[in-house]
Amino acid sequence: MITVTETAAMTAWSTARPGRIGFVPTMGFLHSGHVSLMQRLRPEVDRLVVSIFVNPLQFGPNEDLDRYPRDPEGDAAKCRAAGVDALFVPTDFYPSDFSTGVSVARLTEGLCGAKRPGHFDGVTTVVARLFGVTRCHVACFGEKDYQQLAVVRRMVRDLALPVEIVGAPLIRDHDGLALSSRNKYLTADDRPRALSLHHALFAMRDAREAGQTDVPALLALGRSVLQADREDYLQIVDADSLEPLQTVDRPARALVAAFVGQTRLIDNVAL
Ligand code: PAF
Repeated sequence: MITVTETAAMTAWSTARPGRIGFVPTMGFLHSGHVSLMQRLRPEVDRLVVSIFVNPLQFGPNEDLDRYPRDPEGDAAKCRAAGVDALFVPTDFYPSDFSTGVSVARLTEGLCGAKRPGHFDGVTTVVARLFGVTRCHVACFGEKDYQQLAVVRRMVRDLALPVEIVGAPLIRDHDGLALSSRNKYLTADDRPRALSLHHALFAMRDAREAGQTDVPALLALGRSVLQADREDYLQIVDADSLEPLQTVDRPARALVAAFVGQTRLIDNVAL
């Protein structure tokens, strides 16, 4: 595995090699969820590229950009073990006069888009540039960030970008907590309230499987289980359009975002 720190060198590496390039974009502090994305692509590509870049464009002014967890050596070891060919850790990612933004409308209006203004513009802008820089043919994103996956798919479709998008299942810790780099912020005292996010979602899913289709009733059930310090949202939406539903009469997704202490957690489940 080579580590590439210059953006032009990353493009040169990709263009000098034949074959299909798979790409997993990350912000580092890698966990088994990230590794599962690498494992998903490894068998079907000739070269596997992973990026680690904490993208300032997708953080709001009061968010955790300055303290986002980092573990460069551990990350490199995990990538090497997963069979990554090139680890892209850019030090010069955006030109000093960078002037372009990529923005997906509608799909970004609700859920995290409503609570984190500008967040998805930052995500689509960095992902579009990463696709250009790495010249990847296929890229893998986790369903943990369900709205992000939908937004990236829409960007690729709308701009006819030559990149196949693969979604991979959310990975949970032994106790059910959705894996996230931000779980590092949680104390032992926080853990039960953090676990209540997936307990709430699974209670809703079980009720749906038992025949309940009324969304207000399902949300009331979820809220009776959720013990976070502050709910950002708890919603049931159409699995494709992300439009809120009143009745679960088609493929749907239940999604939650909530704060435990200062830590914002997200989780989701198929209904
Ligand atoms: O999901 C993430 O870690 C980030 O949003 C991504 C896709 C790497 C873009 O910065």
